[in-house]
Amino acid sequence: MRCLAPAKLNLFLHVTGRRSDGFHDLETVFQLVDLCDELQIESREDGRIVRDPPPTDPLLATLADEEDLTVRAARALQQASGTRLGASIHVTKRIPAGGGLGGGSSDAAAVLLSLNELWSLHWPREKLAELGLALGSDVPVFVHGRSAFARGRGEQLTPINLPARWFLIVHPGVSVSTREVFIAPELTRDTAPLRIAALPPGGGRNDCEPVVRQRHPQVAEALDRLAPQGARLTGTGACVFVAHEDEQLLRQLAACLPRQWQSFIVRGLARAER
Ligand code: C5P
Repeated sequence: MRCLAPAKLNLFLHVTGRRSDGFHDLETVFQLVDLCDELQIESREDGRIVRDPPPTDPLLATLADEEDLTVRAARALQQASGTRLGASIHVTKRIPAGGGLGGGSSDAAAVLLSLNELWSLHWPREKLAELGLALGSDVPVFVHGRSAFARGRGEQLTPINLPARWFLIVHPGVSVSTREVFIAPELTRDTAPLRIAALPPGGGRNDCEPVVRQRHPQVAEALDRLAPQGARLTGTGACVFVAHEDEQLLRQLAACLPRQWQSFIVRGLARAER
């Protein structure tokens, strides 16, 4: 089975509190976009969960099986469902890792959704999303596969209608650790919760931005460069994005950027196209 795993952008990200379980309460809007990893997943009679063919992506290749979120997702579902079947998984990476685009989480969600079918488990999405949350805070939104407003760790989801837009995503060439940003003493954790589950007036902001700017000058440079176009950080970075209705305008903008920055022009999605 072949399936697509879309990336996400956080249109804004408010940190509204620190929790007793070590995580933070957030408010965000996840915008799914059509930059996708591609997965090839087959069921196996021998019960093994393997990456086959082995990963070709240089970063995935450095990970041991037990560190790869796709393998961990398959094992978690295998154990929770009690199936005797296994899986072969291969990911063709297009979403840069460590970029705040949710690639690893989306791959994990794609594995859960595909194996739910291939193993004939008939689990509802809600149950898959709950299992997914144990793998990562961003997995549930990809299991549901809809752009959404989110609260909690990102798992309390309300689907949201967003304007049809294009996005220029710029990767400034550094990788940012999510954990590093969330444990930073200088991170503000007291943004007031919104009254309604919608994009806030003025679009909101990303509370992680000052921390990431300070620690990663390359990200600050990308944000400054695209500030006139309203650039914002996605998640804990490192990617920076600009939204616009006009695809051509974004292409012109991308053409003027430093060559060492990888850039993507993508379309916003209301639903994941698998
Ligand atoms: O859930 P995920 O694997 O994305 O989280 C990575 C790290 O980011 C967690 O270990 C935690 O330190 C931090 N985090 C957090 N609050 C969240 C999401 C992530 O503190 N809502």
